[in-house]
Amino acid sequence: MSKQIQAIRGMNDILPEHSRRWQYLEGVIRQVVASYGYEEIRMPVVEQTDLFKRSIGEVTDIVEKEMYTFEDRNGDSLTLRPEGTASCVRAGNEHGLLYNQQQRLWYMGPMFRHERPQKGRYRQFHQVGVEVFGLQGPDIDAELIVMTARLWRQLGLSEHLTLELNSLASNAARAEYKSALTEYLRGHYDVLDEDSQRRLESNPLRILDSKNPAMAEMLSQAPKLSEYWDDESREHFTGLCARLDAAGIEYRHNERLVRGLDYYNRTVFEWVTDSLGAQGTVCAGGRYDGLVEQLGGKGTPAVGFAMGLERLVLMLEQLDNVELPQAVDIYVSAMGDAAELPAAKIAERLRDDFPTLRVMQHCGGGNFKKQLKRADKSGAEVAVILGEEEVANQMVSIKYLRADKPQASVSWEQLNQVITTFIK
Ligand code: HAM
Repeated sequence: MSKQIQAIRGMNDILPEHSRRWQYLEGVIRQVVASYGYEEIRMPVVEQTDLFKRSIGEVTDIVEKEMYTFEDRNGDSLTLRPEGTASCVRAGNEHGLLYNQQQRLWYMGPMFRHERPQKGRYRQFHQVGVEVFGLQGPDIDAELIVMTARLWRQLGLSEHLTLELNSLASNAARAEYKSALTEYLRGHYDVLDEDSQRRLESNPLRILDSKNPAMAEMLSQAPKLSEYWDDESREHFTGLCARLDAAGIEYRHNERLVRGLDYYNRTVFEWVTDSLGAQGTVCAGGRYDGLVEQLGGKGTPAVGFAMGLERLVLMLEQLDNVELPQAVDIYVSAMGDAAELPAAKIAERLRDDFPTLRVMQHCGGGNFKKQLKRADKSGAEVAVILGEEEVANQMVSIKYLRADKPQASVSWEQLNQVITTFIK
């Protein structure tokens, strides 16, 4: 036998037994974003490498070591998108959607990062992202967070998620803070782990993110970003907090929340859980007022977030708090050659009359026992059975597969009435 080819590490198949949960999650998300008037945008999964270098930042983990970058046949450097914000801004600029306009957009799709795979962390993963352009006040930041909170309620996840919030203030304020922090960290160089020593000059703010317990005490004494906030950023942050308070949304101001992508300013936030081990951030985002201009457009304020669908699916799986619909409602069986065509007709008629029901017709023949076994395995509520005798009398037999009810025999005309009784 020849050797089987396997999927690429960290890139997973989503099998039918799991896709039902994915569809449920995607359905709830679509409904929630639509209920706020957001519109879908779809971008390609491959972009010019420079797009990500210029937006996410040259000295971030993503750009330094996680991008799937390759030369295409024309010798252009292309990259599988590691996130959606840069592409969304590129598309908005390219099609003139941003300047002097307001846009509330969302997207869903695969992203690619060459990270070390583990539970909740994959090399191909899926995000739903939401991006808003042309609005600069804290009201829209609050809307985005309120929207995510609604989503958690709908999914039954509220109890398991907490909101962390921070402000990265203006670029000038952050630059001032950066030098104060760097000076402080230089004074504690021997406490820094190898990774942090490397980051000290390139991206010192990211050191604040470190989970290394040996550095915890030293970091807790570090200068605080909020001490360097400019007045407008402070006002923006206070405005956001007041709106979250009014909406009854709890949050923790985490001074050390800095995010791993360079484009943020002012508001940053993360929804985190402790039920997924190390990969606890299920949704993250913030404001990026400088990015549109940085990518060649005219200055346009922007804010957004993205959530990791694998992590949400894992949480839903653990909680197992929703009854997912079966793939099939009605299984139509034909016993004997003469019944096959009438059974196919009945199945088509049911699909015409009940477009939301899932009707599966048995194919491949076989005896009564075998067909009923299939019907049962399909998860259907009922089997509609046609034998030669039923065909001769224009009848069908109905066998209830989940309820303790006797088998019934009804005419083809009466069938719809019976089916109506178990439509939810
Ligand atoms: P991010 O924090 O890099 O932000 O990713 C957002 C979310 O995607 C994470 O919180 C996590 O749930 C999920 N995620 C990230 N990497 C992986 C992975 N390797 N495996 C599984 N899930 C993962 C962004 O991507 C920004 N574009 C968010 C944003 C939108 N900011 C403003 N607008």
